[in-house]
Amino acid sequence: MTASNVNGSGEVARPFPEGFLWGVACSSYQIEGAVHADGRGRSVWDTFSHTPGKVLRGDTGDIACDFYNRSDEDLDLLIALGVAAFRFSVAWPRIQPTGSGAVNQPGLDFYRSLVERLLARNIEPVLTLYHWDLPQSLEDLGGWANRDTAERFADFTQIVAEGIGDFGGMWITVNEPQVVASHGYRTGEHAPGHTDDALAAAATHHLLLGHGLALQRLRSALPAARVGITLDLHAVRAQDAEAEAAAAVAEAEQNGLFLDPVLQGRYPALAREHILPPASLIEDGDMELISAPIDFLGINYYSPVYVKLTDTSVPHADETPIAGLPGVATYMPIELPRTSMGWLSEPDGLYDTLIAVAADLPPGCKMYITENGCAAEDYVNPEGSVEDVERIEYLHGHLAAAWRAIQDGVPLAGYFYWSVYDNFEWGWGYQKRFGLVFVEFESQRRLPKRSASFYQGVMSANELPPLDLQIASTT
Ligand code: FCB
Repeated sequence: MTASNVNGSGEVARPFPEGFLWGVACSSYQIEGAVHADGRGRSVWDTFSHTPGKVLRGDTGDIACDFYNRSDEDLDLLIALGVAAFRFSVAWPRIQPTGSGAVNQPGLDFYRSLVERLLARNIEPVLTLYHWDLPQSLEDLGGWANRDTAERFADFTQIVAEGIGDFGGMWITVNEPQVVASHGYRTGEHAPGHTDDALAAAATHHLLLGHGLALQRLRSALPAARVGITLDLHAVRAQDAEAEAAAAVAEAEQNGLFLDPVLQGRYPALAREHILPPASLIEDGDMELISAPIDFLGINYYSPVYVKLTDTSVPHADETPIAGLPGVATYMPIELPRTSMGWLSEPDGLYDTLIAVAADLPPGCKMYITENGCAAEDYVNPEGSVEDVERIEYLHGHLAAAWRAIQDGVPLAGYFYWSVYDNFEWGWGYQKRFGLVFVEFESQRRLPKRSASFYQGVMSANELPPLDLQIASTT
């Protein structure tokens, strides 16, 4: 790729506030491997990835980045990167192999040691309790469509809090419940692979309830911990005035379905009936638990969603009809760049999202970007390096948007790049690389990409320099 040098355009460095938390993110099933080690139970992702036709090329997380066995080396890489915080998740089936009952001590010990080794390296652990690896035994009882799973999640939370919680620090209850409910229960693209609106609506409520119950347990077990939830949010844009009503529905179902219960204690009126949890599932006190005060809201932002009115009875390139809304589709404006996921890249969407959410945030509640990043067609060039200029451009654009939001009053306290290492990208297996660190999966060799040194520079200076991709033009 011929790189451009926009430095000299008058662009200036953008300093971030003192104490801004710079980190990287990952999750257990995507990096750990070692699925049979030390008494780990089976998760829904083990089952799903071993089911033919579910994951591209039949990839599984059996080995992944082998982080479970290589964590020392990998944590040393974090020091070289210069990160202040490491967002990881604990695998429920390592700690409670069947999702309830006795604790599997070696599993808990792994995470205790991980936390200790992070602290010894002066890196703040940011712990996510649920990043999608539900114990298969709980799925066999109905998974998140079953209210009891939320109770089991609360018990699991308490085990983790009591077992390794003395570091205080930041806790994220659930990662992207929207994706779990929609992909796991409605479209079937993710584990456990259901395609049932009623199950998805039930999972929606029980994931939120799981968050509320976990929050309650954390408050009593660890009064000093800072607790939040991570939601995947998209800027939802209407193509024109005629599409605004449809875009408002899409927005309510995409963002509001989880944001409104957490921040306001109610489901969004605009979401359609089959998407909303039925009243019969919502028990007294549920919405109070779900909307109990959090210390921060984690936002995962990748791309905007564009909505238009169109003839959905015939297929159009770059349009995806919204199920159940005849004449309405999401579309991909041709003028916007896309990442190798095929996702639109639009930093202004991050800015708009941060501004919109901040307006509804209770006083004192902070925001963190707990994930943001881009997949690219990375490869090791003949000189032995990975010149991932697309990732640097993506990162630069989104950090500039975050900076602008801070200038405009958004209480954004940190940013976590997704992901630190290339890893198992769910239904895409190993075909999509998001990492700052290239992983050669056959040999497990790690190689920091050019974006790693760019990000390292940002973190150490606590400021975003003008974009300068000049050196890349030598390739
Ligand atoms: C998010 C997930 C994360 C990763 C990124 C690309 O939806 O939380 O695990 O797959 O997307």
